Amino acid sequence: MKHKPESVNVSMKSIVILISGLGSNLRALLESDLPCRIAAVISNRAAAPGLEIAKQHGITTRVVAHHSHPDRESFDTELANCIDSYRPDLIVLAGFMRILTPQFVARYQNKLINIHPSLLPAYSGLNTHTRALRDGVKIHGCTVHFVTGDVDHGPIIIQAAVPVLMDDTPATLAARVLYQEHRIFPQAIRWFCNGDISLSADGKVLMKRLEQPGCALISPEME
Ligand code: GRF
Repeated sequence: MKHKPESVNVSMKSIVILISGLGSNLRALLESDLPCRIAAVISNRAAAPGLEIAKQHGITTRVVAHHSHPDRESFDTELANCIDSYRPDLIVLAGFMRILTPQFVARYQNKLINIHPSLLPAYSGLNTHTRALRDGVKIHGCTVHFVTGDVDHGPIIIQAAVPVLMDDTPATLAARVLYQEHRIFPQAIRWFCNGDISLSADGKVLMKRLEQPGCALISPEME
């Protein structure tokens, strides 16, 4: 399915998506009929399979290779210049595996969101599924949040929880979480683009339409 820039409304927000790898979240976003224009997909790796997914959807792709820069600052400066050439309202980190400098994060304050494969603030950083299994937690999940200078922290927009099963491996747990990532990421972007979320003075995400979930996830199931 091709993303259709010709059907764009002039007041529609514009987003740029940053990736590093497979791009399954990117694919979920491209197939979600988001109420925004996807101006470009930028990867820090030329070999990222996600670039092909973007091309198949008719989206402009760019590569800003981190290894051709001597330090984080110069990489982030080129990345910011590339992003700014599209004048996006929102920058989406969809499996973008680079730590960003505080200057970069400050430049896009309240305009930069990330998806992380854990229920933050638990399990920030890497290998979240392995660590969750090692700890024996019964519930795990994923989080979409605004990015701040504190890596994998920042105002939380939406989370999805999944049960951890007795015979889970990091791979089976990752697949269960990833399925939910593909559901909550488009929702978060839709809320942002429709003006349904804002930030409170103390750095929490406020929802215009508050749909309170009516049930709890209890894991393991009670008798
Ligand atoms: C996802 O689990 C995401 O949460 C994490 O990296 C993974 C990227 O997967 N930051 P993909 O490239 O979207 O398939």
